[in-house]
Formats: sequence, structure tokens, C-alpha cells
Amino acid sequence: MGEYRIAVLPGDGIGKEVTKGAVEILKAIGDRFHHQFHFSYGLIGGEAIDQEGTPLPDQTLEMCKKSDAVLLGAVGGPKWDRNPPHLRPEKGLLQIRKEMNLFANLRPVKFYESLVDSSPLKPTVIQNVDFMIVRELTGGLYFGKPSERRVEQGEEAVVDTLFYKREEIKRIIEAAFMLAKRRKKKVTSVDKANVLESSRMWREVAEEVAKRFPDVELEHMLVDNAAMQLIRNPKQFDVIVTENMFGDILSDEASMLTGSLGMLPSASLSMTGPALYEPIHGSAPDLAGQNKANPIATILSAAMMLRFSFGMNEEADAIEKAVEQVLAAGYRTADVAQAGKRVVSTSEMVSEIKAAILDDAAIE
Ligand code: NAD
Ligand code: IPM
Ligand code: MN
Repeated sequence: MGEYRIAVLPGDGIGKEVTKGAVEILKAIGDRFHHQFHFSYGLIGGEAIDQEGTPLPDQTLEMCKKSDAVLLGAVGGPKWDRNPPHLRPEKGLLQIRKEMNLFANLRPVKFYESLVDSSPLKPTVIQNVDFMIVRELTGGLYFGKPSERRVEQGEEAVVDTLFYKREEIKRIIEAAFMLAKRRKKKVTSVDKANVLESSRMWREVAEEVAKRFPDVELEHMLVDNAAMQLIRNPKQFDVIVTENMFGDILSDEASMLTGSLGMLPSASLSMTGPALYEPIHGSAPDLAGQNKANPIATILSAAMMLRFSFGMNEEADAIEKAVEQVLAAGYRTADVAQAGKRVVSTSEMVSEIKAAILDDAAIE
């Protein structure tokens, strides 16, 4: 029997509801496959600001570093939107990513046949879409210094900086190639090399890395074109690798190929310590506290945890299969609701997925 320590950071808004659901699913997996998952909870984001005066308390970070994996909900909300930069919930998320060196954020975009009518896009465009966005997560425009307001020649001014060390670009592009090698063997490196010097170095490094992966095709694509191609013909993609902010924007866009932002999970990986798993969506203040949010992105993030951090492929498969079964049976949270389907709450969706995991066990 394996024992695993999972740090859970629910955060704010629907973060609490969706992590509660994912923990229930992990417990069901523990029961079915005889693993002991030990959950410990920590504060992050707005709630941490309110209770501890900082968006990432030391205690939370220490707990996460000592765990085998971290599950995070989401942070942020209107209550803290006017706070100074160091007292914003989002700062806590950026800090934990940096402190744990989680430079590689994997965001899989996968089509579900039963949700074909939930997407605003045509079935012919989205059917069988299956690609991975590899988003650089600890550098780029989010972390470059300076990032500040200042006065220049008597005028109010502001600066953000897009900064990368060559080595930071290299490791994320290598991660993309390693993934592509095990998939459809194509890497699309997305940049703005027609304008940005950082993108020109990104391209150079991509070319260098590509030489070591002769069986993987490399293509370069400008980010504005990539945003369009994602809607025009998303099936052309296998692995997309890109800068932090480009990846943030393109992944929310790509989520609509699956029908909802509430469907996309992610894994944030480092080379050394524990990894962190989180849905790509935010705290959805418009849904918070109403038991309406789609918990599937977080549940699928838990499946990624089992697969990547614990090597539990069968267990991860069981979650993914249960999600597919429940969707195929017609259960929908409001974000993917369709005529003729049964609209359920967050907790009902979790119960259905849990039942599918445990029922399947009974059949075997
Ligand atoms: P959001 O992702 O919270 O919501 C965007 C839209 O998608 C909303 O209409 C919301 O209702 C819907 N949505 C999101 N998740 C859903 C789910 N699971 N089920 C059903 N519908 C869902 O983005 P936003 O509204 O731009 O930002 C709200 C707050 O969340 C901000 O404070 C922002 O900084 C924060 N945020 C946090 C994270 C994170 O913690 N990783 C990610 C994005 C945004
Ligand atoms: C995400 C979020 C975060 C990001 C914010 C809340 C800092 O949008 O995880 O995608 O931009 O990385
Ligand atoms: Mn985002």
C-alpha cells in the first residue's frame, strides 16, 4: 500500500468548491486501489491575505515543498482587486510557482465526443482535437524586472519587462520536444519574432534543440496567427510551446474547443521538487458559493497528479474514464449545458464521477 502526502490549497471563490470535489475523487481512488492519500490544507491568495496578511504564508510554502504533490484551486476576487501589487492574491500564485521552480505548465486540450454541441465551434473543426500547450511558467513578461510605475520627464509612466535567460528558454523547449516524441512528433513554437528580441532568441534556441530530436518536426508560428489557427484548424497542433503570457491567453482560448474553461486541467512541473496541479480557470467570482462550477478541470488535474507525480496510470485512467462515462450519460454542469441533458450542481457532478469510479470497481 502506497502512502502519499498531498498538499491542498483551495484558494478563493470556486477554488474551494472544485478542490473539495477533486479530493473526494482522490479518496475514491484511494479506496478502490488501496492507496493512502494524506491531505493537508494551506492558505493561499485572498483568504491568506485576510488571515495572515500575505498571499503566500511561509507555512503554506513549507508544507507544499514537503509534500509529494500539490493540488490548487484558484485565487483572486473583486475584494482584493484594488490591493497594492504585493498584497494581491495572484502574487501568491506567481510566488509559489517561482519558489517551487514550476517552470513547465502542461495544459492538455482534448475533445470529448459527448460535449460536441457544447462548443460554439463546428463539430468538423473540433472533433478529435488532442494537443498539449506547454506554457513557460516562471519567467517572461510575468516576472521580468523592472515592473513598476515611475515618473519620466515629469510624466507618469509604467514598465513591465519580458526577460529570459537562454537556459530558461532551453529547458522549456526541451520539455516540449520530449513530450512530442511520445505523441504525434510535432512541436509548434509560438512567438512574436517579427517584433520581440526575446522571441528571436526563443526561435534560435528552438532550432538548436530541434537538432537533437530529428524525428520531431519543428514549426514556428507567430502568436497572432496561432490565435487564429486555433479556431480555424486546431487539429494541426500536437505540442505548442510558448512564453508565459502567450500561453496563458492561448490556453483560455483553446479551452473553448472542449466546450468550457471548466474542462481544462494543468500540471506545473519542476525538474527537482514536487509538482503542482491546478485547473486553468480562475476563481469565477460570478459563480462562487453557488455550487454551480464545473469541477472536471480540477478532477482531471488530480488525474494528471496520479499519472505524473505518482506513476499511477491505471488510477488516472479510471478518473478519465469515469468523467467520460458521466458526460456520455448526459450529466452537465451549467457551463456545458445543452438541451435535453441533465443539468447538475458541482457536488452532484462529483458524486456521479465518484459513483462511476466505484461502480467500475464493482464490475471488475
Ligand atoms: P475566471 O477563469 O475565473 O472566469 C472566466 C469565466 O469562466 C467566468 O464567466 C466564469 O464563471 C467561467 N468559469 C471559470 N471557471 C469555471 C468553471 N470551473 N465552471 C464553470 N464556469 C467557469 O476568470 P476571470 O473572471 O477573468 O477572473 C476571476 C478571478 O480569478 C480574478 O481575480 C483572476 O485573477 C483570478 N484567476 C485566477 C486563476 C488561478 O488561480 N489559476 C486563473 C485565472 C484567473
Ligand atoms: C492562470 C491564471 C494566472 C496566470 C493568474 C491568476 C496569475 O490566469 O493560471 O492561468 O496568469 O498565470
Ligand atoms: Mn489564465
